[in-house]
Amino acid sequence: MNHKVAFSFADGKTSFFEIKPNELLLDAALRNGVNIPLDCREGVCGTCQGRCESGQYTQDYVDEEALTPRDLAQRKMLSCQTRVQSDASFYFDFDSGLCNADASRLVQAVVTHVELVSATTAILHIDASSHSQQLDYLPGQYARMQVPGTDQWRSYSFANCPNATNQLQFLIRLLPDGAMSSFIRERCQPGQIIEFEAPLGSFYLRQITRPLVLVAGGTGLSAFLGMLDDIADKGSCEQPIQLFYGVTQDNDLCELPRLAAYRERISNFDYHLVVSKPSATWAGKTGWIPEHFDPKQMEANPFDIYLCGPPPMVEAIRSWLDTQQIQHFQMYYEKFVESNAKQ
Ligand code: FES
Repeated sequence: MNHKVAFSFADGKTSFFEIKPNELLLDAALRNGVNIPLDCREGVCGTCQGRCESGQYTQDYVDEEALTPRDLAQRKMLSCQTRVQSDASFYFDFDSGLCNADASRLVQAVVTHVELVSATTAILHIDASSHSQQLDYLPGQYARMQVPGTDQWRSYSFANCPNATNQLQFLIRLLPDGAMSSFIRERCQPGQIIEFEAPLGSFYLRQITRPLVLVAGGTGLSAFLGMLDDIADKGSCEQPIQLFYGVTQDNDLCELPRLAAYRERISNFDYHLVVSKPSATWAGKTGWIPEHFDPKQMEANPFDIYLCGPPPMVEAIRSWLDTQQIQHFQMYYEKFVESNAKQ
Protein backbone atom coordinates (compact mmCIF):
# COMPACT_ATOMS: atom_id res chain seq x y z
CA MET A 1 0.00 0.00 0.00
CA ASN A 2 1.21 3.50 -0.81
CA HIS A 3 1.97 5.91 2.04
CA LYS A 4 1.68 9.69 2.19
CA VAL A 5 4.83 11.67 2.82
CA ALA A 6 5.31 15.34 3.71
CA PHE A 7 8.60 17.19 3.24
CA SER A 8 8.82 20.54 5.05
CA PHE A 9 11.61 23.04 4.54
CA ALA A 10 13.36 25.84 6.43
CA ASP A 11 11.33 28.51 4.57
CA GLY A 12 8.08 27.03 5.94
CA LYS A 13 6.96 25.44 2.66
CA THR A 14 5.78 21.83 2.56
CA SER A 15 5.51 19.33 -0.32
CA PHE A 16 3.25 16.28 -0.17
CA PHE A 17 3.53 13.16 -2.31
CA GLU A 18 2.88 9.43 -2.29
CA ILE A 19 5.52 6.78 -1.92
CA LYS A 20 5.16 3.23 -3.25
CA PRO A 21 5.72 0.17 -1.06
CA ASN A 22 9.44 -0.33 -0.41
CA GLU A 23 10.39 2.65 -2.62
CA LEU A 24 13.36 4.73 -1.52
CA LEU A 25 12.34 8.13 -0.22
CA LEU A 26 14.71 9.92 -2.58
CA ASP A 27 13.31 8.09 -5.63
CA ALA A 28 9.75 8.99 -4.62
CA ALA A 29 10.73 12.63 -4.07
CA LEU A 30 12.48 12.91 -7.45
CA ARG A 31 9.57 11.17 -9.19
CA ASN A 32 7.31 13.86 -7.74
CA GLY A 33 9.56 16.76 -8.79
CA VAL A 34 11.08 17.41 -5.35
CA ASN A 35 14.76 17.57 -6.26
CA ILE A 36 16.45 16.99 -2.91
CA PRO A 37 20.18 17.89 -3.14
CA LEU A 38 22.18 14.69 -3.52
CA ASP A 39 25.57 13.42 -4.48
CA CYS A 40 26.63 9.81 -3.80
CA ARG A 41 23.21 8.06 -3.48
CA GLU A 42 25.07 5.50 -1.38
CA GLY A 43 24.58 6.75 2.18
CA VAL A 44 28.08 8.17 2.41
CA CYS A 45 28.14 11.90 1.66
CA GLY A 46 25.25 13.01 3.89
CA THR A 47 24.05 15.57 1.33
CA CYS A 48 20.46 14.26 1.20
CA GLN A 49 19.93 14.28 4.97
CA GLY A 50 16.82 15.41 6.79
CA ARG A 51 15.05 14.59 10.03
CA CYS A 52 11.97 12.40 10.49
CA GLU A 53 9.34 14.27 12.47
CA SER A 54 6.69 11.56 12.48
CA GLY A 55 6.16 8.05 11.16
CA GLN A 56 8.14 4.84 10.92
CA TYR A 57 11.10 4.28 8.65
CA THR A 58 14.19 2.14 8.13
CA GLN A 59 17.49 2.96 6.48
CA ASP A 60 19.42 0.56 4.25
CA TYR A 61 22.94 1.87 4.94
CA VAL A 62 24.26 4.91 6.79
CA ASP A 63 27.97 5.60 6.75
CA GLU A 64 29.29 6.98 10.04
CA GLU A 65 30.80 9.90 8.13
CA ALA A 66 27.29 10.86 7.00
CA LEU A 67 25.39 10.58 10.30
CA THR A 68 26.73 10.00 13.81
CA PRO A 69 24.98 7.82 16.42
CA ARG A 70 23.76 11.05 18.00
CA ASP A 71 22.28 12.17 14.65
CA LEU A 72 20.52 8.82 14.32
CA ALA A 73 19.14 9.14 17.86
CA GLN A 74 17.71 12.52 16.80
CA ARG A 75 15.95 10.73 13.90
CA LYS A 76 18.15 12.27 11.25
CA MET A 77 18.01 10.23 8.07
CA LEU A 78 19.39 9.97 4.54
CA SER A 79 16.74 10.24 1.84
CA CYS A 80 18.68 7.97 -0.49
CA GLN A 81 18.63 5.15 2.10
CA THR A 82 15.22 5.60 3.74
CA ARG A 83 12.09 3.48 3.25
CA VAL A 84 8.90 4.26 5.14
CA GLN A 85 6.52 1.83 6.83
CA SER A 86 3.76 4.35 7.54
CA ASP A 87 2.67 7.83 6.56
CA ALA A 88 5.57 10.06 7.57
CA SER A 89 6.81 13.65 7.64
CA PHE A 90 10.38 14.86 7.24
CA TYR A 91 12.10 18.19 7.80
CA PHE A 92 14.97 19.52 5.68
CA ASP A 93 17.10 22.35 6.98
CA PHE A 94 17.29 24.29 3.73
CA ASP A 95 14.86 26.35 1.68
CA SER A 96 12.44 24.63 -0.67
CA GLY A 97 13.86 26.67 -3.56
CA LEU A 98 16.93 24.44 -3.51
CA CYS A 99 14.71 21.51 -4.53
CA ASN A 100 12.60 23.23 -7.12
CA ALA A 101 15.52 24.35 -9.22
CA ASP A 102 16.11 22.16 -12.21
CA ALA A 103 18.17 19.16 -11.31
CA SER A 104 21.88 19.86 -11.54
CA ARG A 105 23.19 19.97 -15.07
CA LEU A 106 26.33 19.04 -16.91
CA VAL A 107 28.28 22.10 -17.99
CA GLN A 108 31.26 22.35 -20.31
CA ALA A 109 33.95 24.94 -19.52
CA VAL A 110 37.53 25.72 -20.48
CA VAL A 111 40.49 26.13 -18.17
CA THR A 112 41.73 29.73 -18.16
CA HIS A 113 44.59 29.32 -15.70
CA VAL A 114 45.85 27.68 -12.54
CA GLU A 115 47.13 29.80 -9.71
CA LEU A 116 49.42 28.21 -7.12
CA VAL A 117 48.32 29.91 -3.89
CA SER A 118 50.28 27.89 -1.32
CA ALA A 119 52.72 25.01 -1.28
CA THR A 120 49.77 22.60 -1.26
CA THR A 121 46.90 24.52 -2.84
CA ALA A 122 45.92 25.77 -6.29
CA ILE A 123 42.99 27.78 -7.58
CA LEU A 124 41.59 26.38 -10.80
CA HIS A 125 40.04 29.18 -12.89
CA ILE A 126 37.58 28.08 -15.54
CA ASP A 127 35.44 29.89 -18.09
CA ALA A 128 31.91 28.53 -18.51
CA SER A 129 30.70 31.47 -20.62
CA SER A 130 29.66 29.12 -23.44
CA HIS A 131 26.83 28.08 -21.10
CA SER A 132 23.90 30.17 -22.28
CA GLN A 133 22.70 31.30 -18.83
CA GLN A 134 24.36 32.50 -15.67
CA LEU A 135 25.08 29.47 -13.49
CA ASP A 136 22.66 29.73 -10.65
CA TYR A 137 24.41 28.30 -7.61
CA LEU A 138 24.52 29.46 -4.02
CA PRO A 139 27.96 30.26 -2.55
CA GLY A 140 28.83 27.24 -0.40
CA GLN A 141 27.46 24.74 -2.93
CA TYR A 142 29.81 22.63 -4.98
CA ALA A 143 30.46 21.19 -8.44
CA ARG A 144 31.35 17.59 -9.33
CA MET A 145 34.10 17.79 -11.90
CA GLN A 146 35.49 15.17 -14.25
CA VAL A 147 39.27 14.94 -14.18
CA PRO A 148 40.07 15.43 -17.91
CA GLY A 149 41.32 12.31 -19.67
CA THR A 150 40.04 10.00 -16.90
CA ASP A 151 36.77 8.53 -15.67
CA GLN A 152 37.35 10.02 -12.20
CA TRP A 153 35.13 12.72 -10.70
CA ARG A 154 35.98 15.04 -7.80
CA SER A 155 33.84 17.54 -5.92
CA TYR A 156 34.93 21.11 -5.18
CA SER A 157 33.14 24.05 -3.58
CA PHE A 158 32.83 27.19 -5.69
CA ALA A 159 35.36 29.75 -4.43
CA ASN A 160 33.56 32.76 -5.90
CA CYS A 161 30.02 34.03 -6.43
CA PRO A 162 27.86 33.39 -9.49
CA ASN A 163 28.59 36.04 -12.13
CA ALA A 164 27.23 37.08 -15.52
CA THR A 165 30.17 35.68 -17.50
CA ASN A 166 30.40 32.38 -15.59
CA GLN A 167 34.04 32.82 -14.61
CA LEU A 168 34.48 30.23 -11.87
CA GLN A 169 37.10 29.44 -9.25
CA PHE A 170 37.76 26.31 -7.20
CA LEU A 171 40.31 25.86 -4.43
CA ILE A 172 42.07 22.52 -4.91
CA ARG A 173 44.35 20.78 -2.47
CA LEU A 174 47.34 19.27 -4.24
CA LEU A 175 47.78 15.74 -2.93
CA PRO A 176 50.93 13.74 -3.68
CA ASP A 177 49.15 11.40 -6.12
CA GLY A 178 45.50 12.47 -6.38
CA ALA A 179 43.84 12.23 -9.80
CA MET A 180 42.96 15.94 -9.99
CA SER A 181 46.26 16.94 -8.34
CA SER A 182 48.25 15.04 -10.97
CA PHE A 183 46.17 16.62 -13.74
CA ILE A 184 46.76 20.12 -12.34
CA ARG A 185 50.48 19.58 -11.88
CA GLU A 186 51.28 17.69 -15.07
CA ARG A 187 48.71 18.11 -17.82
CA CYS A 188 46.53 21.14 -17.18
CA GLN A 189 46.75 23.77 -19.94
CA PRO A 190 44.74 26.93 -20.68
CA GLY A 191 42.02 26.14 -23.23
CA GLN A 192 41.53 22.58 -22.05
CA ILE A 193 37.91 21.44 -21.78
CA ILE A 194 36.63 20.45 -18.38
CA GLU A 195 33.14 19.15 -17.59
CA PHE A 196 31.29 19.51 -14.33
CA GLU A 197 27.89 18.91 -12.81
CA ALA A 198 26.44 21.71 -10.67
CA PRO A 199 25.01 23.03 -8.48
CA LEU A 200 25.18 20.36 -5.78
CA GLY A 201 24.82 20.27 -2.01
CA SER A 202 22.75 22.02 0.63
CA PHE A 203 25.56 23.94 2.35
CA TYR A 204 24.90 27.61 1.71
CA LEU A 205 24.62 30.81 3.68
CA ARG A 206 21.19 31.35 5.23
CA GLN A 207 19.84 34.82 5.96
CA ILE A 208 22.17 36.43 8.50
CA THR A 209 20.12 37.31 11.57
CA ARG A 210 22.66 36.68 14.34
CA PRO A 211 26.43 36.46 14.79
CA LEU A 212 28.17 34.07 12.43
CA VAL A 213 31.04 31.72 13.20
CA LEU A 214 32.61 30.25 10.06
CA VAL A 215 35.08 27.40 10.48
CA ALA A 216 37.23 26.26 7.56
CA GLY A 217 39.55 23.27 7.62
CA GLY A 218 42.15 23.38 4.83
CA THR A 219 40.56 23.87 1.42
CA GLY A 220 37.17 23.99 3.14
CA LEU A 221 38.01 27.69 2.93
CA SER A 222 36.75 27.60 -0.67
CA ALA A 223 33.06 27.57 0.35
CA PHE A 224 33.59 30.57 2.64
CA LEU A 225 35.43 32.60 -0.02
CA GLY A 226 32.27 32.35 -2.13
CA MET A 227 30.06 33.33 0.81
CA LEU A 228 32.29 36.24 1.88
CA ASP A 229 32.48 37.54 -1.69
CA ASP A 230 28.70 37.49 -1.72
CA ILE A 231 28.41 39.35 1.62
CA ALA A 232 31.04 41.90 0.53
CA ASP A 233 29.28 42.50 -2.80
CA LYS A 234 25.99 43.13 -1.04
CA GLY A 235 27.56 45.73 1.27
CA SER A 236 28.06 45.70 5.00
CA CYS A 237 26.71 43.16 7.45
CA GLU A 238 25.26 44.21 10.78
CA GLN A 239 26.11 40.97 12.56
CA PRO A 240 29.66 40.10 13.61
CA ILE A 241 31.31 37.45 11.41
CA GLN A 242 34.30 35.48 12.70
CA LEU A 243 36.16 33.13 10.38
CA PHE A 244 38.46 30.49 11.89
CA TYR A 245 40.73 29.03 9.24
CA GLY A 246 42.73 26.00 10.36
CA VAL A 247 45.51 24.22 8.48
CA THR A 248 48.13 21.62 9.34
CA GLN A 249 51.26 23.60 8.46
CA ASP A 250 51.73 27.32 7.95
CA ASN A 251 52.73 26.83 4.32
CA ASP A 252 49.23 25.37 3.68
CA LEU A 253 47.67 28.80 4.33
CA CYS A 254 46.38 30.55 1.22
CA GLU A 255 44.38 33.57 0.05
CA LEU A 256 45.56 35.69 2.99
CA PRO A 257 45.41 38.98 1.00
CA ARG A 258 41.81 38.13 0.09
CA LEU A 259 40.95 37.49 3.76
CA ALA A 260 42.64 40.76 4.76
CA ALA A 261 40.61 42.57 2.07
CA TYR A 262 37.34 41.21 3.54
CA ARG A 263 38.26 43.02 6.77
CA GLU A 264 38.09 46.26 4.73
CA ARG A 265 35.07 45.27 2.64
CA ILE A 266 32.82 43.79 5.35
CA SER A 267 32.14 45.70 8.54
CA ASN A 268 32.24 43.46 11.63
CA PHE A 269 34.34 40.78 9.88
CA ASP A 270 37.47 39.29 11.41
CA TYR A 271 39.46 36.11 10.86
CA HIS A 272 41.83 33.91 12.82
CA LEU A 273 44.48 31.61 11.41
CA VAL A 274 45.20 28.43 13.37
CA VAL A 275 48.07 26.07 12.54
CA SER A 276 48.12 22.63 14.17
CA LYS A 277 51.75 21.73 13.34
CA PRO A 278 53.47 25.11 13.04
CA SER A 279 56.99 25.77 11.84
CA ALA A 280 59.52 27.43 14.16
CA THR A 281 58.81 30.79 12.51
CA TRP A 282 55.00 30.75 12.97
CA ALA A 283 54.02 33.37 15.56
CA GLY A 284 50.22 33.03 15.32
CA LYS A 285 47.60 30.76 16.88
CA THR A 286 48.35 27.05 17.16
CA GLY A 287 46.57 23.82 18.06
CA TRP A 288 42.92 22.99 17.34
CA ILE A 289 40.38 25.57 16.30
CA PRO A 290 37.99 25.16 19.29
CA GLU A 291 40.83 26.08 21.66
CA HIS A 292 40.45 29.60 20.26
CA PHE A 293 36.69 29.91 20.69
CA ASP A 294 35.34 32.01 23.54
CA PRO A 295 32.82 29.72 25.31
CA LYS A 296 31.46 32.48 27.59
CA GLN A 297 30.67 34.70 24.64
CA MET A 298 29.17 31.79 22.68
CA GLU A 299 26.93 30.88 25.61
CA ALA A 300 25.81 34.48 26.10
CA ASN A 301 25.04 35.29 22.43
CA PRO A 302 23.08 32.89 20.21
CA PHE A 303 24.89 32.37 16.90
CA ASP A 304 24.94 30.41 13.63
CA ILE A 305 27.97 28.24 12.98
CA TYR A 306 29.04 26.95 9.55
CA LEU A 307 31.70 24.23 9.28
CA CYS A 308 33.45 23.11 6.11
CA GLY A 309 36.36 20.71 6.30
CA PRO A 310 37.45 17.15 6.98
CA PRO A 311 35.13 14.95 9.10
CA PRO A 312 37.46 14.91 12.19
CA MET A 313 37.37 18.73 12.29
CA VAL A 314 33.57 18.81 12.07
CA GLU A 315 33.26 16.14 14.78
CA ALA A 316 35.82 17.87 17.05
CA ILE A 317 33.82 21.08 16.95
CA ARG A 318 30.49 19.35 17.50
CA SER A 319 31.84 17.52 20.52
CA TRP A 320 33.51 20.70 21.87
CA LEU A 321 30.15 22.53 21.71
CA ASP A 322 28.58 19.56 23.47
CA THR A 323 31.21 19.42 26.20
CA GLN A 324 30.92 23.14 26.81
CA GLN A 325 27.13 22.72 26.98
CA ILE A 326 26.63 25.56 24.53
CA GLN A 327 23.05 25.36 23.40
CA HIS A 328 21.85 28.39 21.54
CA PHE A 329 23.25 27.91 18.08
CA GLN A 330 22.27 26.57 14.69
CA MET A 331 24.88 24.48 12.90
CA TYR A 332 25.37 23.86 9.18
CA TYR A 333 28.24 21.78 7.88
CA GLU A 334 29.85 20.23 4.84
CA LYS A 335 32.32 17.38 5.35
CA PHE A 336 34.81 16.30 2.76
CA VAL A 337 37.41 13.60 2.45
CA GLU A 338 40.48 14.42 0.46
CA SER A 339 40.58 11.37 -1.83
CA ASN A 340 37.12 12.31 -3.07
CA ALA A 341 37.43 15.91 -2.11
CA LYS A 342 34.43 18.13 -1.53
CA GLN A 343 36.60 21.16 -0.97
S1 FES B 1 23.14 11.32 -1.62
FE1 FES B 1 24.94 10.88 -0.42
S2 FES B 1 24.08 10.13 1.44
FE2 FES B 1 22.34 10.37 0.17
